[in-house]
Amino acid sequence: MNTKTLLTNKGFEKLTTGHPWLLNHDFKDLSELPSKTCLVHVGEHWFFNSPMSKIRLRRFGPTTRDWKKIDIDSIHDPLQFERFFGDFLVQTLIEKLVFKKDVLIKGNEDLCLRWVFSESDLLPGLIVDIFKNKLACQILTAPVQLFWPVFKDALEKAFTTVQKQKPEFIELKNSSVRTKEGLDVIETEEFSSDWYLWNGLYWWMTPGGEQKTGAYLDQKINHKEAVRWMENLNLSETWDLCSFEGGFGLHIAKSERPVAAVDQSQNALETAKKNAQRNEISERSYTTIREDIFTFLRRQYDNKATVDTIILDPPSFVKSKMELANAMKGYKELNLRSMHCLKSGGLLVSCACSHNVSREDYLYMLRSAAHDTRRTVHVLDVKGPSPDHSPLINFPESNYLQAWFLRIE
Ligand SMILES: C[S@@+](CC[C@H](N)C(=O)[O-])C[C@H]1O[C@@H](n2cnc3c(N)ncnc32)[C@H](O)[C@@H]1O
Repeated sequence: MNTKTLLTNKGFEKLTTGHPWLLNHDFKDLSELPSKTCLVHVGEHWFFNSPMSKIRLRRFGPTTRDWKKIDIDSIHDPLQFERFFGDFLVQTLIEKLVFKKDVLIKGNEDLCLRWVFSESDLLPGLIVDIFKNKLACQILTAPVQLFWPVFKDALEKAFTTVQKQKPEFIELKNSSVRTKEGLDVIETEEFSSDWYLWNGLYWWMTPGGEQKTGAYLDQKINHKEAVRWMENLNLSETWDLCSFEGGFGLHIAKSERPVAAVDQSQNALETAKKNAQRNEISERSYTTIREDIFTFLRRQYDNKATVDTIILDPPSFVKSKMELANAMKGYKELNLRSMHCLKSGGLLVSCACSHNVSREDYLYMLRSAAHDTRRTVHVLDVKGPSPDHSPLINFPESNYLQAWFLRIE
């Protein structure tokens, strides 16, 4: 296919600067693309073709590989996909697992990490999180569903090679994004829970059956960073706002600092308490409060309550750019009230998890909150997700998590 005549100028620019998506409107004429779900060769890349989706092509595999020996334009048949790409898949999955394990798993920790992160790992439409030998696999797009038997076989071979044991598959087809691909949303009936030693603590996790696919594995480095900064700054008392099952707060409480964990989910807080017990953290050091964090912060502000450290880790307030202005108001209220409530020399760990909020947007909001509260605020550090979720440089949409470590005077 001649990419110059096929694509609009913008589409051509995306292709030649390495963005892994081509949308319907990036094409001058869609009729040249196959009308069936398949893998298709365009320019120097292979792409998954999703005929029902606005995101028409998603790049599969790196450009640096020599794909020239495959002299066909498209692949529809899973057996053919296996013949041409089976070995590549096993090899790339082994490399990714070895790299992520080396970087992230220390001592006798259990293997809990994101093995495959969709576009960021150039295996778009597939997310695989590992919990010991359980693989929670999100099948998000039509091509991944079509070629799933080949992916599954490659995952099994790669896992067995690295871990010397067979994996157990949890196939998840419950994400609402599947409707955009013309796929059914199917709920999985039952999930089992177990204890996992992760980041130095024991966690009761339910692979596949909880928020994310069981845990916020992406915050792993930031949980430790929060404790490190609190030690450096000699801080103690903490409010962990949007605590989920204990993420930040249990790391902090384990280091002998009292934590009040606030979340609106009773289930999450019950599990957080169970986790605290299992890690021998006393009820005095770790209390839980079921409340909306806006209400909690307004009350603390009205009561002129103060604290050493506040963790803010709300869910995404912005699912599309249209919601950005409203979302920024929400982020500002949380950050502004937190700045008010922090003691001089205190730490604010302020997180946002949406690619629709850029670092510039967030900095602008933080700057304005600092000015309105008349507090002096220094940026100690800004982190992203743990390396198993690391963003792909050509794909701004994968740069979704920011964690600001701020010192408030
Ligand atoms: C991004 S997760 C937090 C992850 C957690 N900090 C960790 O590191 O594991 C967001 C959490 O916010 C909670 N939540 C969402 N909206 C809330 C609100 N308005 N008030 C309190 N909790 C809320 C959800 O129940 C969820 O547990």
